[in-house]
Amino acid sequence: MTNIFLIGPMGSGKSTIAKHISKQSSLVFYDSDAEIIKQRHSDINEIFQQEGEQSFRRYEQQVIEKLVKKAGIVLATGGGCVITPINRKNLTQKGIVIYLRVSPQAQLHRLASSEERPLFSAKEPKKLFELTKLRTPLYESIANFSYDTDNTSPEKLAEKILTDCSQ
Ligand code: S3P
Repeated sequence: MTNIFLIGPMGSGKSTIAKHISKQSSLVFYDSDAEIIKQRHSDINEIFQQEGEQSFRRYEQQVIEKLVKKAGIVLATGGGCVITPINRKNLTQKGIVIYLRVSPQAQLHRLASSEERPLFSAKEPKKLFELTKLRTPLYESIANFSYDTDNTSPEKLAEKILTDCSQ
């Protein structure tokens, strides 16, 4: 089966849905943030604080470049990976790209207790919405399929994505 790559903003459910896709198919689950953490022996907050976003984007690009070469995977990417042009190229060339949308309300609700996201602060939700707005055209530019995630369970969405990808 073709690789499936999930893109979309923080809190759109990429990792959760990717795990369900993996459970419902033969695709092996990967998460680009988790791979970065594994390789750098450092969490995302630490990388941002100690080395800055540019270094993080470089690691992200290297990890995605390596992962897309695998066959039979479902990959949950980080919400900002689309700002790097080479990621957009790698994702579109090596699999089906799925864009997960989320409303600002649901996004805030899902991220409320998140402390692992350096670009999100519950005190400054406007920043989050600005990021999403800036990135929306980039998500749309590479998506083969897109889905609203507010009102459908991750299990059902995974099922729908698998059906659409196998047609
Ligand atoms: C980021 C999203 C995060 C993570 C990092 C930066 C972003 O991933 O890659 O904190 O720029 O939107 P999730 O989308 O999985 O939260």
